[in-house]
Amino acid sequence: MNVLVTGGAGFIGSHAILRLMEDGHTVTSIDDFSRGNRGAIAALRAVGPFEFVEGDVGDRALMATLMRDRGIDLVMHFAAKAYVGESMDIPLTYYATNTSASIALLQAMDDAGVERIVFSSTCASYGEPPADRVPIREDCPQRPINPYGYSKWFVERVLFDHGRAKREAGRPFGFACLRYFNVAGNDQKSRLGEDHRPETHLIPICLEAALGHRKSITVFGTDYATPDGTCIRDYVHVSDLIDAHITVMSALGPGDERTYNIGIGDGSSVREVIEATRDVTGRAFEVIEGPRRAGDPPMLYADSSKIRDELGWVAKHTDLRGIIDDAWRWRQVHPHGYGEQ
Ligand code: UFG
Repeated sequence: MNVLVTGGAGFIGSHAILRLMEDGHTVTSIDDFSRGNRGAIAALRAVGPFEFVEGDVGDRALMATLMRDRGIDLVMHFAAKAYVGESMDIPLTYYATNTSASIALLQAMDDAGVERIVFSSTCASYGEPPADRVPIREDCPQRPINPYGYSKWFVERVLFDHGRAKREAGRPFGFACLRYFNVAGNDQKSRLGEDHRPETHLIPICLEAALGHRKSITVFGTDYATPDGTCIRDYVHVSDLIDAHITVMSALGPGDERTYNIGIGDGSSVREVIEATRDVTGRAFEVIEGPRRAGDPPMLYADSSKIRDELGWVAKHTDLRGIIDDAWRWRQVHPHGYGEQ
């Protein structure tokens, strides 16, 4: 299949390119490097050939031409800004990058006659679900509590409206919204890693502390209504997440409207992640108890039985230590991430 991967220099997009190439698909990718890593593209080039364009996903004319020229069958749309905390400070940037650019991409797909998309949505679209709705099913009401969650949820809304209009016009459009929980881990052969600039994600921050690149790690809030007072998240391995994309891609037909939660179905607290990182790395680091970070819901973990029942996907990596261990192996070879290849 001819697949366009937006945001291919990012953590998840780069893992998608790797898997698509390994499975024999023809890959085209675009990234503007506002968040992605040139090192990820270099690492992928060592694995196999793919077309890469440095550019803006929100550039409708560029995207339509690219999709026509490359005969694209399906788009995997990863390109986005994805920091909950940052979205509280610069919401317009989030709505521009995540929402407006996605609309331009859909217009470009329309221009080029590309009729299938797998969209990277988020569990942040559920906001702060009531305790009796956790584990979260897809029918849990979506009420985001931060601009990041809204910026993705709006795109889901747009997809449903666009899908309906296309269906009524007799040109069915297939889409899937995959609501990711907290993606972590690495390609197990350590060809790619997780390296955000700036880094805000808990596991990479713990690993940087273990390496001694950070003096300490701050726990954002210890007074949540959770068993140990810290936030609970569902950490899903990036390889499992990509498996879900491949599974969905194969199943996605004309007129499909699919939404799936992608998580392991269990939650780990911030303290548990810190403890697991200490175990895996065998290194001690200082932990400071700090105030809550704005926009953080206390507890998010998935009920992913819908994608299991409909498509047979289940997460294979359900052990937090194993997930951290994969990330640690890459970090040991790349202590400063892609900056030091
Ligand atoms: N945390 C700390 N200290 C840190 C960093 C994080 O205590 O230095 C805490 C956060 O407050 C949160 C948890 O660790 O409770 C996880 O935080 P991350 O920043 O790693 O992840 P988020 O849950 O905020 O966000 C991530 C992705 C989003 C996605 C979301 C869904 O970045 O794209 O998961 O929960 F939508």
